[in-house]
Amino acid sequence: MKVLILGADGYLGWPTCMYFSQRGHEVIGIDNYFRRNASTELDCEALIPAPNLLQRVIIWEETSGKKIKIHIGDVTDYAFLLSIFREYKPDVVIHYAEQPSAPYSMINRDKAAFTLQNNLMTTLNVIYAVKETNPECHIIKLGTMGEYGTPNIDIEEGWLEIEHKGRKDKFLFPRQTGSLYHTTKIQDTDMLWLYVRTWGLRVTDLMQGPVYGLSTDESDLDSRLIPHFHYDEIFGTVLNRFIVQAVAGHPLTVYGKGNQTRGFLNLKDTMQCVYLSAEQPAEHKQLRIFNQLTESFSVNQLAEKVKIVGNRLGYNVEVNSIENPRVEKEDHYYNVNFTGLMELGLQPHFLTDNVMEEMFKVVDRYKDRINRDAFFKGIQWK
Ligand SMILES: NC(=O)c1ccc[n+]([C@@H]2O[C@H](COP(=O)([O-])OP(=O)(O)OC[C@H]3O[C@@H](n4cnc5c(N)ncnc54)[C@H](O)[C@@H]3O)[C@@H](O)[C@H]2O)c1
Repeated sequence: MKVLILGADGYLGWPTCMYFSQRGHEVIGIDNYFRRNASTELDCEALIPAPNLLQRVIIWEETSGKKIKIHIGDVTDYAFLLSIFREYKPDVVIHYAEQPSAPYSMINRDKAAFTLQNNLMTTLNVIYAVKETNPECHIIKLGTMGEYGTPNIDIEEGWLEIEHKGRKDKFLFPRQTGSLYHTTKIQDTDMLWLYVRTWGLRVTDLMQGPVYGLSTDESDLDSRLIPHFHYDEIFGTVLNRFIVQAVAGHPLTVYGKGNQTRGFLNLKDTMQCVYLSAEQPAEHKQLRIFNQLTESFSVNQLAEKVKIVGNRLGYNVEVNSIENPRVEKEDHYYNVNFTGLMELGLQPHFLTDNVMEEMFKVVDRYKDRINRDAFFKGIQWK
């Protein structure tokens, strides 16, 4: 396959580039370094120094003998994106290039406006570029489990059949979310559905839960190939943050009661999910939605796991409940259907003690770089 990866420098984008490249596919990556620049601006840089994307592909070629082509540019710039589609004619485009943080989108009006503009415009541009150059091209789009929120019914895989006054129809599962970032993801899904219906595009929308981990088979080949690893309040996901807090001797910051439950997955499983989706594409005129997670935990359960493993490794891990800066349900029902990716062949890597121990070991190597001010900046939803 010829695979175009948008957001190729990111936490998920870079390991995805290597994953496809390693398996013999031609990979073209695009990024505008938004994430690097935003984390410098907000003083929450990644734990592990990562060479820039152009240097990363040189290291990858030295390590694997395989080439990845990179273009630094902005996916909201339609002329730029269109020129890439025209030059390479990809079979599949994987769209990661969005502002991915809920807290970032809630900082102030300007960050909200940027999130809205960036996320919707990148998606619109991808849709138009596919339509204009090759409507056969399969769009794989990263959505989020956060689109659904925490309804008091089981969460189905994207769609819900409804019977109303004796008649039936199938609709997108009701979505009510808790941040502007998540709202842009809902709007992306709605936009994709519109153009699947009207133009017959083929789209897979992956409703992904928070990802943890910093190891893939490819990134383990050379420490300079490790993905960005954020642990801060803005760009870090919860388990990654808890492990860095444990290593730093900082209490784990549990928001409110800590009964908030979400579906999680290992970075290695994100690779599999995206790859399986690309190998077995959606049909024409199909918006295929998968719930991308492998197991669910409450925040308290994650904190407890980190505490047990951390204490066993000799850290003195404390857990501290702090006032919840977000507006979210702290006690709620959570039961998700996620059979679709398993049926495609996903073989989950679960959150074992061994997986956490390996994460502790890597984080410990970089403990002098931990910025304790980044753990909690107190971005308020209210
Ligand atoms: N990491 C998770 O836990 C998680 C969970 C659910 C969904 N997602 C989604 O997966 C995708 C990737 O997430 P991630 O964690 O790798 O985030 P990331 O910020 O590390 O990666 C996104 C990349 O896209 C780039 N980018 C953003 N806007 C761009 C633009 N206009 N033009 C070019 N490049 C642009 C950024 O510079 C960054 O390198 C995002 O869409 C995110 O919403 C991530």
